Amino acid sequence: MEAVVCENLVKTFTAREKSGFFRGSRKTVKAVDGVSLKIRRGEVFGLVGPNGAGKTTTIKILSTLLIPDSGDAWVNGFNVLSEADRVRESLGLVLSPDKGFYSRLTGIENLAYYGRLYGLDKSSAVKRAKELVELVGLGDDGLRMYDEYSLGMKAKLSIAKSLIHDPPILFLDEPTIGLDPLSARKIRQMIDNLVKQGKTILLTSHNMWEVESLSAEVAVINKGRIAALGTPNELKQKLGLVYLLEVEVLGNGEFDSGWRVEAGERGHPVIHVESRRPSEDLPEILEKIRRQGLQIGFVRVHEPSMEEVFARVVAG
Ligand SMILES: Nc1ncnc2c1ncn2[C@@H]1O[C@H](COP(=O)(O)OP(=O)(O)OP(=O)(O)O)[C@@H](O)[C@H]1O
Ligand SMILES: [Mg+2]
Repeated sequence: MEAVVCENLVKTFTAREKSGFFRGSRKTVKAVDGVSLKIRRGEVFGLVGPNGAGKTTTIKILSTLLIPDSGDAWVNGFNVLSEADRVRESLGLVLSPDKGFYSRLTGIENLAYYGRLYGLDKSSAVKRAKELVELVGLGDDGLRMYDEYSLGMKAKLSIAKSLIHDPPILFLDEPTIGLDPLSARKIRQMIDNLVKQGKTILLTSHNMWEVESLSAEVAVINKGRIAALGTPNELKQKLGLVYLLEVEVLGNGEFDSGWRVEAGERGHPVIHVESRRPSEDLPEILEKIRRQGLQIGFVRVHEPSMEEVFARVVAG
């Protein structure tokens, strides 16, 4: 059984638009327009898409915070409409990493407070809070007041909060937003560790490299619809994205007519070849060069990126 299944989710909002002082017109926005997904257990599933595409709305429906107009969804086998309590027990949620905490309490006190809400007695709640503060790498900052926290500390604390009841499934909506490169890397390492412990994670991010490096499967959502779905490699292949191979040659010779040869930055010719199978094409190119008695300078392989996948799918 998959960790998360949703079928044909639809959610429409009525946006109030003010025109003039008193008059207001109503306009409907289809935030989610028939989203179906399956998320396998023990994997990271990346959900990417432009601003306003429907990612957060989808996550809110799956976490029972919003009721869909139509469609259905199951989390950990429980139905989001008829078994909302069981769904909430099954998941940990990070929506806005900097919301939902008391500024006049320490990090540990905040977590212990939530532990109490989840039904832990006082000493168990404090014990759990301390464990989680260590787990997310907050260390002694767990003893500081929340209103002194930097964005990175808040992000760590919100992940700690989502783990209080040790749920099997986590929904992380932009957990690295606004973080410096090292803090973001720590969050990614944490995500990696959680998956190794068997958790399932639904992740959104606008950092395409981050999504690619963490996710087993990625969905691109655009205007409320799933526009592409697959492993990062499948998506690149489906879209016909190619590798670019560059080989610098020391000395001049006869080059294959299929190669684009340009002068490189060091004055030597550089061969440029587009390839779908770099592991086969590159050795062949190198062998041809060697057979001519020429020497090889540098070799570069440019992999097509998730950013290109995103651009092709979203911009068409
Ligand atoms: N409570 C609401 N009332 C009215 N419209 C809403 C509400 N929540 C979301 N929307 C609209 O629904 C659409 C999808 O929003 P959503 O927050 O799901 O996008 P998103 O993919 O998470 O975007 P971002 O990358 O910017 O976080 C947008 O057009 C948004 O304006
Ligand atoms: Mg969002």
